[in-house]
Amino acid sequence: MSGLERGFRRARVRAAAKINLDLRVLGKRPDGFHELRTIFQTVSLADIVDIAFAPGRRTDVVLEDDAGISDNLMARAARLALQAMRITGRVEMRLRKRIPMGAGLGGGSSDAAAVLLALPALAGGWLSLAELTAVAAQLGSDVPFFLLGGTAVGIGRGTELFPLPDARAWPAVLVAPGIHVDTPGAYAALSPCLTTESQQNKIVSFQTHVWDLGSGKLAGNDFETVVFERHGRLPALKKALTRAGASFAMMTGSGSALFGLFPTREGASRAWRRLAGGSGLLTEEKAYRVSLVGRARYRSMWRRALAGHAIPEIWPPRSRYLK
Ligand code: C5P
Repeated sequence: MSGLERGFRRARVRAAAKINLDLRVLGKRPDGFHELRTIFQTVSLADIVDIAFAPGRRTDVVLEDDAGISDNLMARAARLALQAMRITGRVEMRLRKRIPMGAGLGGGSSDAAAVLLALPALAGGWLSLAELTAVAAQLGSDVPFFLLGGTAVGIGRGTELFPLPDARAWPAVLVAPGIHVDTPGAYAALSPCLTTESQQNKIVSFQTHVWDLGSGKLAGNDFETVVFERHGRLPALKKALTRAGASFAMMTGSGSALFGLFPTREGASRAWRRLAGGSGLLTEEKAYRVSLVGRARYRSMWRRALAGHAIPEIWPPRSRYLK
């Protein structure tokens, strides 16, 4: 990884995890994906991505990660971003994985989005948010959200996004049970339950929840029924979060991670200690103390990470190497 030491333009960025504050699956679409109504929210748990770029006559992408991920989306993201900018060169990346994988926390999607945001700034190119979103949607349904961060409604496949005013910066506890949920399998299990009548109810309660965001009163995750049925440990963990003082607890994405939102930082810390400190969790289960990350904080984190490479006032970050 010589590029990370010298001669390359480089940056270290944090790729944040997400939770779904609400997730309704309405039905299967002609393209095979499911129509969603969801509220995405970035949280402070993050992977660390080192990324370096040097212009060259052909494109080479090298990636090291500490989790042994086969077919990492980051490499595809780098190639697609360079292609879209019509730039060639060598990209060297190193990923330090902190976000549990296959848990519904969007770690792989966030890593890919991090490449899409950082690489133009390093390579002296620029892609509009619309162009970046098109590339992101090719990589996965959750990837476009990480170009925005904060709180956002996702509809369609989850790639059509509408920023919402930030939810309160709730202190939160994530519990990752070490159970890998197969997402296509979870959608397939859900499909028979999707009826027109329930769609009506879902849309009305989803809308009301968006208006009343953060109270948790009307929030729901349609995957809980099918995934909880298969993994009996998950409802027990959800109850443990509530018993530990969470105002609201739910599974994120298609699971298996759960989150609890707490009224105070002390409350969240106490719950984390209670869960992680021996009395609550099994050996393969992990708990994380996090907070919800609003859009302003998300963007300032990005601007800081790309300072020196980007002109700070513009989102997405614009490169200073642009002619
Ligand atoms: O887009 P992504 O690669 O994350 O999707 C993984 C799988 O999840 C898809 O192949 C599909 O089976 C399912 N999915 C879906 N509807 C969505 C998003 C994902 O059916 N809106």
